[in-house]
Amino acid sequence: MLEHRLSVMREMEPSVTAALATLLPPDDCWQPSELLPTFGTEGWQAEVEDLQEEAGRLSDEMLVVLVGNVVTEEALPAYLATINRCGGMTDRTGVDDHPWACWARSWTAEEKRHGDVGRGYLLLSGRVDLRSVERTVQHLLRNGFDNRAGGDPYRGLAYASFQEHATKLAWIQLGRLAGTCGAPRLHRICGLIAADEARHERAYVSVLRDLVAADPEGALEALEETLCGIVVMPARTMTDGIDGNLFGHFAAVGQRLGVYTYADYAENLRQLLETLGLPRMTGLPGAAESRRDALLAAAERHRAAATELTTRRGRPIAFSWIGGRRV
Ligand SMILES: [Fe+2]
Ligand SMILES: [Fe+2]
Repeated sequence: MLEHRLSVMREMEPSVTAALATLLPPDDCWQPSELLPTFGTEGWQAEVEDLQEEAGRLSDEMLVVLVGNVVTEEALPAYLATINRCGGMTDRTGVDDHPWACWARSWTAEEKRHGDVGRGYLLLSGRVDLRSVERTVQHLLRNGFDNRAGGDPYRGLAYASFQEHATKLAWIQLGRLAGTCGAPRLHRICGLIAADEARHERAYVSVLRDLVAADPEGALEALEETLCGIVVMPARTMTDGIDGNLFGHFAAVGQRLGVYTYADYAENLRQLLETLGLPRMTGLPGAAESRRDALLAAAERHRAAATELTTRRGRPIAFSWIGGRRV
């Protein structure tokens, strides 16, 4: 089966080439230094003070969510490794010129800026225990990440499409909160990251859409396997060395704050199926029809469960990221 999928993926290369064109040349991209105070220029001290003043307006809950988002971005080496485990996408030499390899490298190059700018903001804010944040990133990279695609490029593509949307929403929603509480610099940073994520999401989804057209049975099977259970989050193995359930605690704060909630998760799934045109697809071959129905049912199940979910405020949890304060 994998052999068949690999050959279909090779046929998908024109789609990947089209997706590649949506990635920006480095000269046209924003860079973290443009969004942070520039040392050595006139007035840099005032810029740092300004940043610290706005960061002073962020609540502890917002800081936790910001750190969790940045930590997730900082585990980028794990995500590149994941792409390179997917058959057909593998960059064997590190400079392969097939479209998947070019995509993996160019995508990584764009993504790197997210962790960099986030970490820069955290450093200058003076509001977090940076050592604890850095320890968390190191733990996360050591613990690793399994997107459960098992090296199957179809499932890897389905996962990436879903996950880019998730990160996009997490940044949009945090950015909105930053804007509301009077932190325009963070608001801008979040908006720019979210715009990158949106571009990446569109690219992955466009390839996925072509894959559904090229091999509906295989694509639907992969979508069902990836999306019908709970989709694993990329930073789920994070720990600061103290809290073994740090990801769960971070996600709970996000849920409370309205940053990537269960309802967002359900909506993400519904929207992806909609964008792929699955609800209206007729004449699907073989088992694809029942797989499509299972996916739509799963989306509906999550939507209903999210509606019923009442966010109980659990016991406040101490986060080492913010000096052990409880949130
Ligand atoms: Fe990112
Ligand atoms: Fe991303």
